[in-house]
Amino acid sequence: LVSFVGLWKGKDFLNTNDFSQEEIKLVLDAADTLRKEFWARKKHHHLRGKTLFMLFYNRSLRTRNSFEAGMYQLGGHAHFLSPQDVYTPALPEDMVAYQTEAISDVGRVLSRYGDAIAIRIYGDAAKWIIGRGHRVIQEFAKHATIPVLNMEDDMYHPFQALADAQAMRRASPKLKGKKLVVSYAYSGGLKPLAVPQSEVLIGTQLGMDVVLAHPKGFELEDVVLDAAKANADRYGGTLTVVNDMKAAFENADIVYPKAWSPKGFFPPHRSSPDKVGATAYQDKFKDWICTQELMDLTNKGKYMHCGPADRGQEVSDDVIDNADYSLYFEEAENRLHVQKAVMTLVMGDRPPRRRK
Ligand code: CP
Repeated sequence: LVSFVGLWKGKDFLNTNDFSQEEIKLVLDAADTLRKEFWARKKHHHLRGKTLFMLFYNRSLRTRNSFEAGMYQLGGHAHFLSPQDVYTPALPEDMVAYQTEAISDVGRVLSRYGDAIAIRIYGDAAKWIIGRGHRVIQEFAKHATIPVLNMEDDMYHPFQALADAQAMRRASPKLKGKKLVVSYAYSGGLKPLAVPQSEVLIGTQLGMDVVLAHPKGFELEDVVLDAAKANADRYGGTLTVVNDMKAAFENADIVYPKAWSPKGFFPPHRSSPDKVGATAYQDKFKDWICTQELMDLTNKGKYMHCGPADRGQEVSDDVIDNADYSLYFEEAENRLHVQKAVMTLVMGDRPPRRRK
């Protein structure tokens, strides 16, 4: 593991697609090592004395606790920041005197106290303008002099994609040529595009045959579809888009059914967000639920979901709780290992060279 420590010192981690397949595999190898060592209760204090600032504009169970536990296990400290309790870090057009503070200043101030800044922002916090949350994180990355980590914005959820890749690779060591179905599944809530977009990206980056299934109106952003197609060409996989959940599940090796919001109801695809219209539209697709009947169509496929899953809407209880094929809790666990791997890579200090 020592060879990974500080190897990418100072780098940001905003999107898995900023990295090559080889680099993603390096993270997964490091995470596998850390996983084994975690279960053997072997301790590494590669980040002793280091601080991670975690800024959450949205709620979280898995992300907050896995980053916080991971930093502690590596000998460091994770510091939780609520945007309401500091002067809310804001983009230039959102400044309000003595209530907000420019992200360019917050990033530079925190850089003087600690070793990385992690941010989560989407939905209401990003005014439901698709891409605005990502812009906030990019603004931090532009001005901070320490690494910035994306804990999920309105475009990407890179650490979820890494955790899922680790789970998929454990279930099926050769992922190239395996059929991964990323499917819409109904939820009464409005969820961001980040997870399906990051899953389609990492699947094609690992050479998988990715099938994206959704009703009309739930298309992913073009920039992501183009990047996924480029990945497929580069790494020898495929990307296919269909509008039929049942057809998509046939012979799938892995299925990833989860909700996201219909993008046409939100800027930049219209002038202002229409949450009521989006909710009414998605309510037409309550039959997009992952059941045992659908799982029976797969090639003894694995079930995946980033969590939190809406039971009875996105998935039936018997599927998510099926210990034979549901990777739900392993995905949650892997958040710990992949995040420790990336933090060790970007925040660690390179060990001194040995004299010959
Ligand atoms: N998957 C995920 O990011 O979970 P949380 O929202 O609980 O952090």
